[in-house]
Amino acid sequence: MRTPLFEASANTGSTLTRRLILDLQTRKQVERIIAIVIGTPDCLLMSMLASKAAPGLARTLTSSRLHKWNCAHISDDALVIASELVTNAVAATPSGGEIRFQVSRDCGGVLVAAWDDAPGTPQARPVVEISPETLDLAEERWDDNGGWGLPIVATLAAECGYCPDSVRGKWAWARLKP
Ligand SMILES: Nc1ncnc2c1ncn2[C@@H]1O[C@H](COP(=O)(O)OP(=O)(O)O)[C@@H](O)[C@H]1O
Ligand SMILES: [Mg+2]
Repeated sequence: MRTPLFEASANTGSTLTRRLILDLQTRKQVERIIAIVIGTPDCLLMSMLASKAAPGLARTLTSSRLHKWNCAHISDDALVIASELVTNAVAATPSGGEIRFQVSRDCGGVLVAAWDDAPGTPQARPVVEISPETLDLAEERWDDNGGWGLPIVATLAAECGYCPDSVRGKWAWARLKP
């Protein structure tokens, strides 16, 4: 059987470079997915009900875990990210359904991730400028002056994305560098 190394050595220089870059990217991707699915030994991994209380719970848990890890200096950004990812998971899940929340750390930094089993994927919407005139203050829309969540996550995180869970559902994740 031909090993990947054998295959690579049979290629020309530029193809070899491309393949190595692809291998490294794939390995990085796989490492990220493994970290999200399995977590690290001291990781926080919690199942929650999809409810309005979930983002607050996620913030509280994130804050105490980051303090424990001496990472309080990234707490502000991590709490916003946790809020946005969990809020999206809650919004996508029928009320009372399950969502999951994870905070873990490894040599690549701190990973914040939210799981849900809903259809659809996180897709940044065109951002609409908000002004006092355009702000919709109706009670049922007070938390939805919308489409800023994922752009905010992308701005605060070193990297972010989403990936399928190995069993079912998907993880939306963001990595912060302490
Ligand atoms: N976990 C998710 N599951 C399914 N769709 C999602 C999820 N997260 C985000 N989305 C989609 O991405 C869109 C953009 O999300 P976001 O930037 O947070 O803005 P908002 O939540 O205000 O719509 C959402 O409107 C939704 O359609
Ligand atoms: Mg959102």
